[in-house]
Amino acid sequence: MTLANRLFGGTRLLLCATGFLGTLSVSAQTGSDESAAARVLNASAYSIRASEELSAFVNTTAEAAIEEHCAGCHGTDLTGQLGVPDLTDYDWLWGITGFELNDGEPVMALQQTLLYGIRNMDCPDIADVSYYGGCADTRYSEMPGYAALGFDEQQLSDLVDYTLDLSGTEADAEAVARTAELRPLCTECHGENGEGYKPYGGPDLTDNVWLYGDDRATILDVITNGRLGACPPWGYELDAATIKSLAVYIWNKAQGY
Ligand code: HEC
Ligand code: HEC
Repeated sequence: MTLANRLFGGTRLLLCATGFLGTLSVSAQTGSDESAAARVLNASAYSIRASEELSAFVNTTAEAAIEEHCAGCHGTDLTGQLGVPDLTDYDWLWGITGFELNDGEPVMALQQTLLYGIRNMDCPDIADVSYYGGCADTRYSEMPGYAALGFDEQQLSDLVDYTLDLSGTEADAEAVARTAELRPLCTECHGENGEGYKPYGGPDLTDNVWLYGDDRATILDVITNGRLGACPPWGYELDAATIKSLAVYIWNKAQGY
C-alpha cells in the first residue's frame, strides 16, 4: 500500500485530484477576470482605452450594470428623461467643470456620485447622517422653493424672465431689470453669471439644456416650489470594479468614445 492509499484510500485520492483540476480551470477563468478587475481599478481611463482587454471588461461590466440598475431612470443609452440628466452630453451637474487637466479627476468625481449618490437621505446607519440633511459624502444641495421664502408672484414671474434671458430665450426686458437685486441670491449655486456651479450641482442656466423643461410654467414651478432630484447611492450594492467601470464608461461616452 502506498502512502497516499494509506492516508486517503485510492478512490478518494482520484476524486480529489479531479476536483483539484476542476478548480484549477475555473480559477484560471475567474483569475483572468479578477486580474482585469484589479487592473481596471488601478488604470486611468486613458490606459483602459488603450487596452482591448480592459476596454472589453469595462464595457461588458458597465453595460450589464446599466441594464440592471440605471436604465429605468437614465435609459439604456443613458440619454435621460425629464428630471434625469443625459449622461452622454458632457453637460455635468456635479463635480466635473471641464477644466480638469487629465482623466483622473473627472473619473474620481463620477465615482463619488456613484458611490454615495445624489441627495441620498436613506442612510443604513443613523450615525452616517451628516450635515445639510444628506447622508455622509452624498452630493447635496437644495434648489430652494422661493414661495416658501416669501417671494411674491411678481418676483417669481420676473425671475422666470431672468432665467429665460440667461438661456438666450426672448424675455420681458423690464421684468429682467426688476430682478437686479434678487439675482445675487442665485449665484451661490448657479455661478456668478448663471454658468452653473459644480460643487453644488447647480445647473448651468445659460446653455439652454434643461433638466426640468424650458417652458415658462415649468420654470415658474421650479423657482416657486424648488427641486430635490435624487440618484441612489451604489456603493452598498456594486463592487469597486463595477463602480470604476461605470465611471470610465460614462466619461468615455460623454467624450464621444
Ligand atoms: C431612481 C432613478 C435613478 C436611477 C435608478 C439612477 N439614477 Fe442617476 N440620476 C438620477 C437623477 C434624478 C439624477 C439627477 C440628480 C440631480 O438633480 O442632481 C441623476 C444623476 C446622475 C449622475 C450625475 C450626472 C451629472 O451631470 O453630474 C450620474 C453620474 C448618474 N446619475 C449615474 C447613474 C448610474 C451609473 C446609475 C446606475 C448604476 C444611476 N445613475 C441610476 C436618477 C437615477
Ligand atoms: C442653494 C442652491 C441654489 C440656489 C440659491 C438657487 N438654485 Fe436654482 N437650482 C439649484 C439646484 C441644485 C438645481 C437642480 C435641482 C435638482 O437637481 O433637482 C437648481 C435648478 C434650477 C432651475 C432648473 C434648471 C433646469 O435645467 O431645469 C432653475 C430655472 C433655477 N434653479 C433657477 C434659480 C434661480 C432663478 C435662483 C435665484 C432666485 C436659484 N435657482 C437659486 C440650486 C440653487
